[in-house]
Amino acid sequence: MIPYNKVHLSGSEEQYILDALLRGQIGGDGYYTAKVEKLIAESFNINKVMMTTSATHALELAMLLIDIKPGDEVIMPSFTFSSTANCVLLRGGKPVFAEVEKETLNIDPSSIRKLITDRTKAIIPVHYAGISCRMDEIMEIAEKNKLYVVEDAAQGVNAAYKGRFLGGIGHMGCYSFHSTKNFTSGEGGALLINTRDEKLLERAEYIRQKGTDRDRFLRGEIGSYSWVDIGSSFSPSDILMALLFSQLQEINAITKERKRVHDFYTELLQKYADRGILNMTKVPQECQSNYHIFYLLFQDMQARNYVMKRLKDKKISAVSHFMPLHSAKMGTSLGFKAEDLPVTEWAAQCILRLPLYPGLSSIELEYIGEELTSILEEL
Ligand SMILES: Cc1ncc(COP(=O)(O)O)c(C=O)c1O
Repeated sequence: MIPYNKVHLSGSEEQYILDALLRGQIGGDGYYTAKVEKLIAESFNINKVMMTTSATHALELAMLLIDIKPGDEVIMPSFTFSSTANCVLLRGGKPVFAEVEKETLNIDPSSIRKLITDRTKAIIPVHYAGISCRMDEIMEIAEKNKLYVVEDAAQGVNAAYKGRFLGGIGHMGCYSFHSTKNFTSGEGGALLINTRDEKLLERAEYIRQKGTDRDRFLRGEIGSYSWVDIGSSFSPSDILMALLFSQLQEINAITKERKRVHDFYTELLQKYADRGILNMTKVPQECQSNYHIFYLLFQDMQARNYVMKRLKDKKISAVSHFMPLHSAKMGTSLGFKAEDLPVTEWAAQCILRLPLYPGLSSIELEYIGEELTSILEEL
């Protein structure tokens, strides 16, 4: 079976993990955590990077920091992972689901505008597939209405919009280093803070460190640390950060390999897009992709399911993606209905993601290409 995804190992993982173990400091905020935070800050031009145990936790930390309270509304797409909405619900706030654009499956700024009320506190744009949302328009809406923007860049590490790296454009950004992502520590994430608000930066450290001023103590600024705020346990083990450090040293090689596969599919399938049989991943001119996902969008669910099943019979794993949040069990219990967001429903029913990972060989790609095109000719 050709899998949908395979973790790429850079080769130095074992050495760094062993080194972290031998350093004897395997809790949070050790040697490798500092190295990874510095590397991310420098590579992506980010003001403050705080490693977390997941993007889910980075989002939760962000909602704590902007003080989401019962009654507050946060606008986000429905075509996303449950964590984007849960972080708001956990603070007693209300996720408000906006429509996505057909071309990119990213949140539609015109849909955001329609959903703003005097209770709206923030927007969480999700950069789907490693391709940026229209950040200029989103930042303009936020500024006009005095809203926070927290980018869910779980899939957007090393992707950019008009030359700026994703996660570094809104007030805050969240990265994922889950094993399904381009660069991974198995489980892991980061909160990026782009605002220079000193109070917020200080609180971020407290909340991340179980509500204590431990970071200040570790820097030698105070003689002991104590409980100063609410908080939770968001810092990952240094063993995981050693693994991530090894992966992040291969950013360019991993991205180049993913691009190779992405380009192969684009070239192979252009004629079917021209014939109107399908749409495929498009990278708008102002966006630089990290090639996280290559997807096809068929005209209806029957066509998508047919191609998915035929590929599976040929031992090629192509997969669907997000089940929209607004029409899921939790979404409907919050009062949303499937028909509220027709483009989102269409995208979920018609999307098919093709295998994409470094090391997918040209022989395997040729095989996928032959099988896929022969199935598409039947449509
Ligand atoms: C858009 C989005 N947000 C959040 C997450 C959660 O990431 P993590 O698994 O690191 O918590 C994911 C995971 O796939 C995601 O795709």
